[in-house]
Amino acid sequence: MNRDDAPGLLDGAMNLEMTAEECDLRYWLQAVPQGTLRGRPDGHDPALTPPDHMLTPGPLRDAIAQEYAFRSLAEDKAARALAYLVAIAPTTPTMEFYATQVLDEARHAMVFRNHLTALGFPPETPHTAAATDVRAILDPLEEFGLEVMRDNADFVGGVVTMAIILEGALAPAAELSERKWRPLDPAAAEIDRGAGIDEIRHLTVGAAIAKQHLAEHPSDRDRVASLIAAGMRMWTVLPVHDMVRRRELLFQRGLQEHAEVVGDYEVWPGRRLVDTTAEERQAMADQWSAEMRESRLAYIGLEEALS
Ligand SMILES: [Fe+2]
Ligand SMILES: [Fe+2]
Repeated sequence: MNRDDAPGLLDGAMNLEMTAEECDLRYWLQAVPQGTLRGRPDGHDPALTPPDHMLTPGPLRDAIAQEYAFRSLAEDKAARALAYLVAIAPTTPTMEFYATQVLDEARHAMVFRNHLTALGFPPETPHTAAATDVRAILDPLEEFGLEVMRDNADFVGGVVTMAIILEGALAPAAELSERKWRPLDPAAAEIDRGAGIDEIRHLTVGAAIAKQHLAEHPSDRDRVASLIAAGMRMWTVLPVHDMVRRRELLFQRGLQEHAEVVGDYEVWPGRRLVDTTAEERQAMADQWSAEMRESRLAYIGLEEALS
């Protein structure tokens, strides 16, 4: 997929179909290191340097520090957990696909981390700026994923845990991030865009593996459905809403301070970013999240996991 004509994350993840057989190691080498990443080792055009308003202390800087620290550690944990799927993948294409996904996630962790460095934050920032959120949200999710992938060596369980419960639920926040940082921090928006293109592949291939498995093993449906339901319940008890709200409120203050930089930029068609509120942006991400989950579950044939 070419960077310029790749679909948006939500559109791509909801409508494309890609299998592990299509997205093997050979495909990845050409599409990613030699494709979307060519000339962009840090995930963005190296000519994009931080604008002054991103270098002056204030709410905008605090917002990106909290957001990118959290996302960098989420990607780090995802890379480590996914390595267990490489070890237990049942076929060569699935082994190769998850090996590429491990590298993608390790690279996402790196580019979010490096962007904080480029903005002048100290090297420990990924571990300090979001420490409370990591403990409250990422640690329990990691525990859930490791139990499935490492302790139970459950391949299909791990595939749906990643594609539906973890990445699927985080993808809409990533889409919002790309759109809202676009006028304020173009390098960040490019990093988000690049990671989003990878996410489309992760989500669609994961869903295709799950769909095929359930078609071949209908007796496994109830088990997989209850795993998804258990994962979904976690999202209702973890303080994700509070975290996103706090970040959006910080972003809102930064947005007001730098409204002249943002100008008439539209965050989605017909809606200027400067006219949006924290609540509105969060509600939009929540709506995308629900739509994404429903379309992925319908695709793999497990709509009942939602009820
Ligand atoms: Fe990622
Ligand atoms: Fe991913």
